[in-house]
Amino acid sequence: MKDRLEDYVLKHSTAPDALLHEIYRQTNLRTIYPRMISGPVQGKLLEMICRMLQPKRVLEIGTFTAYAAISMARAMPDDGLLTTLEADEELEPLIHDFVAKAGLENKIELLIGDAKILIPGLKDDFDLVFIDADKLGYPTYYELAFEKVRAGGFILADNVLWSGKVADPGVTDAETMAIREFNQLVANDPRVEQVLLPLRDGLTIIRKCS
Ligand SMILES: C[S@@+](CC[C@H](N)C(=O)[O-])C[C@H]1O[C@@H](n2cnc3c(N)ncnc32)[C@H](O)[C@@H]1O
Repeated sequence: MKDRLEDYVLKHSTAPDALLHEIYRQTNLRTIYPRMISGPVQGKLLEMICRMLQPKRVLEIGTFTAYAAISMARAMPDDGLLTTLEADEELEPLIHDFVAKAGLENKIELLIGDAKILIPGLKDDFDLVFIDADKLGYPTYYELAFEKVRAGGFILADNVLWSGKVADPGVTDAETMAIREFNQLVANDPRVEQVLLPLRDGLTIIRKCS
């Protein structure tokens, strides 16, 4: 039933264009963990959020093959800049290749390195942050990102349901525990309001109130 529903959702959402389709295909052919990619439905949602918010500054934590970065950057204003952080330097040529094919070299800035080290050095007040790197880092990324988002800005976090494991008390592996800690941190934070959407692997939209 879950697969059938996912298929139905996919069929009734705007299909990715040729470039995003190619990135998806190449990611499956050329990377070890292709399922890390945002994919068509979440990519479209991220694009729609950027079309609605028109953010001038976006920070993405975890680039992978730039599917989400390209989806978001396309929908940002012409003078917008998306900064995306990626720890795996082997992905760099692939990312640059896809960003160039999208004609977004001026709108996407790739920084290679550990996001935990890079984020404190970033200057801008971001309108939107997308947290999508290693799950153990989520609580840290949240605190670091919070400092860099302007009041009234948004933080999005992917994989917050972690294949449903967060709601199964019998599951206690480190990644599940880290995501649970992150979800609790957000739920208990009086500085924000948030909604956890059961889209794909779970996506939380967090608004920094002040
Ligand atoms: C789930 S994938 C990102 C998917 C991408 N946002 C998309 O939508 O297609 C996670 C990425 O985070 C990267 N990553 C993991 N730990 C990191 C860290 N400490 N700093 C920066 N990137 C990291 C991984 O190498 C991987 O490419």
